[in-house]
Amino acid sequence: MQRKGIILAGGRGTRLHPLTIGLSKALLPVYDKPMIYYPLSVLMLAGIREIAIITTPEDQDLFQRVLGDGGHLGVSLTWIAQPSPDGLAQAYLLAEEFLDGAPSAMVLGDNLFFGNDLTERLARADANPGATVFACRVSDPERYGVVAFEGDRVTGIVEKPAVPPSNYAVTGIYFLPGDAPRRARDVQPSARGELEIVSLLEMYLEDGQLGVEKMGRGYAWFDAGTHASLLEAGTFVQALQDRQGLLIGAPEEIAHARGWMSDAQLREAAARYGKSGYGARIGASLEDRADRAGLPRLAA
Ligand code: TTP
Repeated sequence: MQRKGIILAGGRGTRLHPLTIGLSKALLPVYDKPMIYYPLSVLMLAGIREIAIITTPEDQDLFQRVLGDGGHLGVSLTWIAQPSPDGLAQAYLLAEEFLDGAPSAMVLGDNLFFGNDLTERLARADANPGATVFACRVSDPERYGVVAFEGDRVTGIVEKPAVPPSNYAVTGIYFLPGDAPRRARDVQPSARGELEIVSLLEMYLEDGQLGVEKMGRGYAWFDAGTHASLLEAGTFVQALQDRQGLLIGAPEEIAHARGWMSDAQLREAAARYGKSGYGARIGASLEDRADRAGLPRLAA
């Protein structure tokens, strides 16, 4: 069965107050685009076109204004409301009908990834019939869920450990098999009252079905959940895009590269963004390709 995607973009975003009082975290800007463009791009890089976006009930229409039904991006979006932020594992209960037995890839709405061979890693996770977490090397593992290893085998995930068993933090990409919603029903609320993703992952670990993709040197992972990390992520995107003249986290570009969007549709998309630098860069990406293929150049 074809893997389906989930973006979990609810939550209260209290660490970003007062920014998130009027606007949902995943709609805040990360340099030149709304934050949700980045997790959406990750799912599209994984080759996933059927995607559910989970938001708070209040913010759903704002998200819909930004992304609609996804048709203009070459994907199909389903909208699901989470009445209260009761934990990451709840996503699988809310998305059970949407998934309809399919394996899934979930990305958190405030997670950004950048790395050269991310696409290959996503393809590897897709091919794994078990569960896969993505772990990234960080300098401050005690702030995160940390993966314990024996060689390359995962032996545990420890939440915010005083003495971290490794430098690898569990990031916000989870590839789970089709039985995730069924297993999520057995997750009991934690002391903080949430259905924890770690509890769900531990079920796969106990069954010897939990794999890990390690992102080491050359990878950047941002959880843009605090003022400092939000700014840091934006600065990173700006620096890389300006230096290379290439976009990071542009769904239109990915859709076009994958053949989910025609040249004409990409031109339309660029035009829709008006005079923004983002629109210009999308248009330019087509012009680059047109040049190489000897096709007519786009009007400036
Ligand atoms: P968090 O950053 O843990 O929570 P939050 O976004 O509510 O922020 P804060 O801690 O500042 O109050 O959540 C990570 C991501 O998952 C984020 O994009 C919000 C989303 N989320 C949900 O959509 N539903 C949930 O029940 C939880 C816990 C998180």
